[in-house]
Amino acid sequence: MGKQFPASKLERDESLRVVDNRTGKEYTVPITHNSIPANFFKGIRAAAGPNDRPEDETERGLRVADRGFLNTAVIESRITYIDGDNGVLRYRGYPIEQLAERSSFLEVSYLLIYGALPGASQLSHFTSEVLLHGPIHFDAEGFFRAFRYDAHPMSMLTSAFAYLGSYYGEANPSLQGQDLFTKAAKGDPAALQNMDRQIFRLIGKATTLAAMAYRIRQGRDFVVPPTGMSYTESFLYQLDHLSPTDHLSELHSTKPHPVLAKALDILFILHADHEMNASSTTVLQTGSSLPDPFSAVAAGCASLYGPLHGGANEAVIRMLISIGSPKNVPAFLEAVKKRQKVLSGFGHRVYKTSDPRSFIIRKVADEVFAVTGRDPLLDTAMALHDAALKDDYFVSRKLAPNVDFWSGLIYRAMGFPMDFFPVLFVVPRVVGWVAHWRQMMLSPSGVKIWRPRQLYLGPSARDYVPLEERTGTFQVGVGMEPSVIEHSGLAGKVRSKL
Ligand code: ACO
Repeated sequence: MGKQFPASKLERDESLRVVDNRTGKEYTVPITHNSIPANFFKGIRAAAGPNDRPEDETERGLRVADRGFLNTAVIESRITYIDGDNGVLRYRGYPIEQLAERSSFLEVSYLLIYGALPGASQLSHFTSEVLLHGPIHFDAEGFFRAFRYDAHPMSMLTSAFAYLGSYYGEANPSLQGQDLFTKAAKGDPAALQNMDRQIFRLIGKATTLAAMAYRIRQGRDFVVPPTGMSYTESFLYQLDHLSPTDHLSELHSTKPHPVLAKALDILFILHADHEMNASSTTVLQTGSSLPDPFSAVAAGCASLYGPLHGGANEAVIRMLISIGSPKNVPAFLEAVKKRQKVLSGFGHRVYKTSDPRSFIIRKVADEVFAVTGRDPLLDTAMALHDAALKDDYFVSRKLAPNVDFWSGLIYRAMGFPMDFFPVLFVVPRVVGWVAHWRQMMLSPSGVKIWRPRQLYLGPSARDYVPLEERTGTFQVGVGMEPSVIEHSGLAGKVRSKL
């Protein structure tokens, strides 16, 4: 028996009445799941008004403008729910707090991708498939060695995911047919199997690629993923195997420190998904033109790297170092309020209260510091946190700490270099990306290419003017002409020989 609703609830008119004051016409817009279809508004047309330009296309229907996707639902999803006003985050209905306390990263990965907590044999199958796909072809070593010694690990990792796609022609819709994955939605078992194989590969090899990006920077040889370890233990092992200054392993032990491995596992659970964040949206946007999933994940990596998203954990540490000590916090906050500085690790597009992950991370931080020692930056972080939460500027804008405020401190205490922090975000987020990508490929209504609109404010049609006839000042304003740049000595030497 389904749930019984009171008659009044069933009878409610789920629609919106809109009057176009330009024409006096009235429209009834259907409401589904408390949303209205943007495409409906395309049917609302009017004759061009005196202030309309031809490029406004007034006769061709109303457009919906939403710069930065502030209130646009781009997909129907069953994966993750966030209630940003109340600080709630749930994966497939399960509260993040329960998963962080009781689950493990690969179990949560299964949950996110397949929709339910696995039984013992399902989990064992999934785990062995993911770990089996950890090793990478020997050729990939040459790919990593081609980077300069000081290449940023995110440059390497982003490129590496796209490179990985070159190994698997069977996963490339451009080669195999554009319905390679989407036909899984029609019940094609081979397509589903193909899709899941790529998912195992992407999750399995994410740690291997990340560890390679790490070790090349250290001038160390690459490590084949070990057997008999969990996903996060294997990752730590690959990173620090035979390292003389090994923070991660207990002395003379081949297994990573259990407290640190557990801490990383929890951090991975917290970072695994976050519904339509910038990088997941990018993966879906890219995936919507049906490239191979490795290319889509590479695009997600690039999006995550920005300091407004996954690069924020690195930015937080740089900010704390620049503040220097708790006594400098008030001056720093004044500079933030004058918009001269950025308070990284605070604020969120969705959360208008504390990010629920930040409470869990704070606890994990204490457990890690008990092993590694307390980071002196913690005092500055605490002072900054406490002062910002008491300051009306931040309170009135509902700015609270996000997950990145504390995660960087943990990574730093564990001995990771700062530019590796975004990599530690990418590895678990691959799971969220593939969960969303799989869900989109399996959509019963098929995949629609994501092609947004724009409001064109540029010049109207004009005729080409030959160079010799162009006169006067061309354009005034910032960025209206190519910048004048200084050339390096090398360019100068080359020029002088000409
Ligand atoms: N410090 C100071 N002021 C801020 C901050 C901040 N960190 N974040 C937002 N504000 C202010 C804005 O200036 C704006 O003020 P105004 O209304 O007076 O102009 C107001 O708060 C609203 O902020 P928006 O920029 O409109 O918020 P938006 O949703 O576009 O941006 C974002 C969210 C990008 C996360 C922003 O809060 C930010 O830049 N935070 C710092 C970077 C960061 O920590 N990113 C990690 C996000 S979490 C994650 O990806 C895992």
